[in-house]
Amino acid sequence: MLKFFQLLFMIFMTYASAEAQSLSPFQYKAKKFDYLLGMEGLSDDLLKEHFELYRGYVNQTNLINQKLSDLLNSSKMSAYEYSALKKAYAFEFNGMKLHELYFENISKMREKTDGLSITKKLNSDFGSYELWEKDFIQTGLTRGIGWVISYFDKTSGKIINSWISSHEVGVPIFNDIIIIMDCWEHAYLKNYGIKRVDYLNNFVSHINWKVAEARLQNADK
Ligand SMILES: [Fe+2]
Repeated sequence: MLKFFQLLFMIFMTYASAEAQSLSPFQYKAKKFDYLLGMEGLSDDLLKEHFELYRGYVNQTNLINQKLSDLLNSSKMSAYEYSALKKAYAFEFNGMKLHELYFENISKMREKTDGLSITKKLNSDFGSYELWEKDFIQTGLTRGIGWVISYFDKTSGKIINSWISSHEVGVPIFNDIIIIMDCWEHAYLKNYGIKRVDYLNNFVSHINWKVAEARLQNADK
């Protein structure tokens, strides 16, 4: 009788293992941002390279997802490899998502901000739009590679500007991203050399305010 139950258990484990290994991890698809080509202040060459870098993050995120899934379904778990992949995942996943948010919040042409609640909010939280812009640009001049981000802080209901290094270091919690700017050198060096401030000034004059407005409304629910 014992052997019968052992046999049943082995059949169940074989079936369960086959089921688990048949699960495929979610595959992210790269979005297309070609509609930005021809924009003021950023050349097509720079943008095309930037899109290629972005697709690299999507590919690496999918690759790590697959490797994690393989390890999880394997009988030989490597704790060291699993931890290294988890850390790499934060870098690649954020690199993918931050780029999408960045490309989505830039506009080919200069946009008007009249009557938008986002600009009223920046006026209210910083004292004036100019002070928000000054703080945003100054934050973007932080040395090193990273991102400057205007967040909606859900705990205070206020907009704050923060710097995050690389893609995943120093990310403030409880915040929704409203406006984001890429401050890695590949985002501007080809067009502006080492004058990051000129790139920052071009960015703030090409914010897609409709996108920022929608993000604020979504965050402030
Ligand atoms: Fe970038």
